[in-house]
Amino acid sequence: MLGDSFGRLFRVTTCGESYGKGKGSGLAVIIDGVPAGLKITEEYIQNELDKRKPGVGKLNSPRLETDKCTIFAGIGQDGVTTGAPLGIIIYNVDTQDIHIQQYREYKDIFRPGHATYPFFLKYGQYQDWCGAGRSSGRETVARVAGGAVAKFILEQRGIEIIAYTKECMGIKAKEMRFEEIKKNYRKNEINCPDLQAADKMEEKIFEIKEKGDSSGGIIEAIAHNVPPGIGEPVFDKLSATIAHAVCSIGAIKGIEFGAGFKVGNMTGFEDNDSPYITKEGKIRFKTNNAGGFLGGFSNGEDIIIRVAVKPTPTISIQQTSINMSTIKEEKLSPITRRDPTLLARIYAVVESMMAMAILDGIYMAAAYDAMTNLDEKWMKLKEL
Ligand SMILES: Cc1cc2nc3c(=O)[nH]c(=O)nc-3n(C[C@H](O)[C@H](O)[C@H](O)COP(=O)(O)O)c2cc1C
Repeated sequence: MLGDSFGRLFRVTTCGESYGKGKGSGLAVIIDGVPAGLKITEEYIQNELDKRKPGVGKLNSPRLETDKCTIFAGIGQDGVTTGAPLGIIIYNVDTQDIHIQQYREYKDIFRPGHATYPFFLKYGQYQDWCGAGRSSGRETVARVAGGAVAKFILEQRGIEIIAYTKECMGIKAKEMRFEEIKKNYRKNEINCPDLQAADKMEEKIFEIKEKGDSSGGIIEAIAHNVPPGIGEPVFDKLSATIAHAVCSIGAIKGIEFGAGFKVGNMTGFEDNDSPYITKEGKIRFKTNNAGGFLGGFSNGEDIIIRVAVKPTPTISIQQTSINMSTIKEEKLSPITRRDPTLLARIYAVVESMMAMAILDGIYMAAAYDAMTNLDEKWMKLKEL
């Protein structure tokens, strides 16, 4: 398997699967590029992990994982980061034999909407058939641990990232300001700051769940206070790096920035965000159709993205599939535990991936600056 790391200077590598063999199975993340001297605690990381934890509430998978994290590397005796890679581990605690048996029974049959078919083609008899392996939603717990560290570093610079449910099965949240969204988005299970819309969304999800089916939706993510000029102009545009980060999450099927696909029906005059000078002498834009980007760099406005989240592939309705050992069509009954919608948990993963991409972009901008103004500290070292 390749591609288990993300980022250039703030680099996150994850390992682990949904149902690894044995009692010590779990997921881990190694984070390179953590500055020395940070007082980052397990409690801080745990608070982020609890946002995506299964087994809480009616909209989540009943899998009872505690998602308890342990920092096993990178913190010195004084309780602060030493500049060494930070290592965090989260053990699986609810990998029951009854579910393993169920996965074993259906291991040769593709699960529609899941990654089982390409896994079968790539890894053949060695494919991880239990609980979707590295393609499981469980993989994202390690991303959220890595994202928590990125968020911690960004928060110290006043940069905040929130992701919330914007739309679900035809029900839309009203337009709201950042502060209002921040105040309300965690007041319900669906993470929608428009509390009336949230009730309707939840009602709709339960109605669909009753039929054995699942629901999709749209998550909006906002990064507030990102300084202008972050990003590189060609392949490593900040917008492209964020898209890479967020689209690597399973079940994400589309992304748009700012006005997004609406620009296809706008004139240049309507679309262009006009700059102006604030009373404090700062350059800002009157509108934010560009979603906080110009030429792929941040422009100082809020970075706004929306992602389409597909309905949970595991459903209770019987589906037709193919048995790979017989190459015959077969009926597939529902398998194990599932989320009626991914919206209640995936927002935390979107926040995390966006945080990693933005912090990595800021590190890159600082590295370019260091290249062009070769730092005095390093030149002085010659004199020692
Ligand atoms: C946080 C999270 C939780 C998920 N939980 C489930 C689940 O309970 N059941 C399920 O069938 N898929 C779940 N998924 C979705 C699958 O992982 C994903 O749809 C599958 O790997 C196929 O990838 P694709 O949808 O990108 O094609 C979850 C994804 C995420 C990010």
